[in-house]
Amino acid sequence: MSILIVDDEEVLQDVLGALVREEGHEAIAARTGEEALALLEREEVDLVLLDLMLPGLSGMEVLRQAREQDPDLVVVVITAFSSIEGAIDAMKKGAFHYIPKPFKNEEVRLTIRKGLERRQLKAENRALKEQLHGRFGFDRIIGKSKPIQQVFDLIRLAAPSKSNILILGDSGTGKELVAKAIHHNSKRRNGPFVTVNSGSMPADLLESNLFGHVKGSFTGAISNKKGLFELATGGSIFFDEIGNIPLETQAKLLRVIQEKEFMRLGGVEVLKAEVRIIAATNANLEDLVERGAFREDLYYRLNVITISLPPLRKRAEDIPLIANHFLNTYARENEKPIREIASGAMQLLMDYHWPGNVRELENAVERAVVLSTGSILDVDLLPQTVRQPTELQLPAAMLPSNGLSLKDAVSAYERQLIVKALQASGGVQKKAAELLNVKPTTLHEMMKRLAISVESLAS
Ligand SMILES: Nc1ncnc2c1ncn2[C@@H]1O[C@H](COP(=O)(O)OP(=O)(O)OP(=O)(O)O)[C@@H](O)[C@H]1O
Ligand SMILES: [Mg+2]
Repeated sequence: MSILIVDDEEVLQDVLGALVREEGHEAIAARTGEEALALLEREEVDLVLLDLMLPGLSGMEVLRQAREQDPDLVVVVITAFSSIEGAIDAMKKGAFHYIPKPFKNEEVRLTIRKGLERRQLKAENRALKEQLHGRFGFDRIIGKSKPIQQVFDLIRLAAPSKSNILILGDSGTGKELVAKAIHHNSKRRNGPFVTVNSGSMPADLLESNLFGHVKGSFTGAISNKKGLFELATGGSIFFDEIGNIPLETQAKLLRVIQEKEFMRLGGVEVLKAEVRIIAATNANLEDLVERGAFREDLYYRLNVITISLPPLRKRAEDIPLIANHFLNTYARENEKPIREIASGAMQLLMDYHWPGNVRELENAVERAVVLSTGSILDVDLLPQTVRQPTELQLPAAMLPSNGLSLKDAVSAYERQLIVKALQASGGVQKKAAELLNVKPTTLHEMMKRLAISVESLAS
């Protein structure tokens, strides 16, 4: 292990250096506090022997900065007997132990041994914790496709920052999973992760949930209650379905983000909002802003970093990976011998358009596992919707006895389907194109050819 000796006296450097080497460790010397901090930044150091009386930067300041850099660092303070008060102060600031000068060599040896033991324990604890976090980290988000790899890159970049994050994506694409991954890969990972289900709660109830209330602030407030912002202190607060938050609550939320403080309902005490905000929605917030249903200023505050999750059908190559993952998970959970997905069944899984995304796939696999008796998941275990390609669900074609123009009939049918798709997607051509599995430009051309205008749909 390596031990940094911070002392401006040459004699003490020599004595302590010899002791450290006799114990089988590497000794690094620093004569000033500045030099010590620079070394700590560069070198892997396990323990510091620190003289509190230094020229320039004080030993106490070195202690503070060193522990800030590495909270596991073990610092042993060495100080003249006359300044024992400083030593006690140092203990309060996180020093492991203090040794008064003049010291006995044996005392130094013993303290080094104990200090290094502590260091090792801390390192082990940290490793265990990190293993635990791993389970909530990236490895729960499965996928190797380019779009999902881009999401991983963004999470990696965004997680350590302090910025608010907005996660966009259709239902079941993994927004909540990503929000948790961000939290567990951030500096706040040891703090709480609190979810706000903005759902369809009335404003006053939502606000009492968010900010808490004091006893008697409204009928039913029979005691003081902490709000979610308070519970999330030091961690992250996740606003699921942020688009559903009533306008009046949006105004309050904006104020909390800007001022980083809030009050409980009916309270007078100003509380610090020491949280990171992660929000998610499957609505088009820009549309909501345009329609006046979402505050533009709040939108910009939340949308510092955007992570967009692609629908599952846009990353079909992830489907086998995800399907097999859930197959194993649910087989274990249900103690079933099923281990494999037949190639025909896999093909159907890959061809299906998954409007409910990963959640729908997960449900389909879970259902198949529960119903299964053998070791292979085959077509018969898949839900009807997945088994029947969409065209088979279309009504049977009728041929008039006197025949027809195939071209006109196909055009008329195309027209009907395009109009249906546009109606189903509220006139949003991009969405309609997805439903029809064509490029937006293709849809646009078809609409022109068939003289379909979005305006005419409303009637
Ligand atoms: N890439 C993925 N790998 C593994 N599991 C996933 C992945 N994406 C989503 N899931 C799983 O799919 C389910 C739905 O995910 P999640 O709840 O995060 O979606 P969501 O976007 O929040 O959906 P909604 O908008 O309906 O709330 C969860 O069980 C989640 O664990
Ligand atoms: Mg969700």
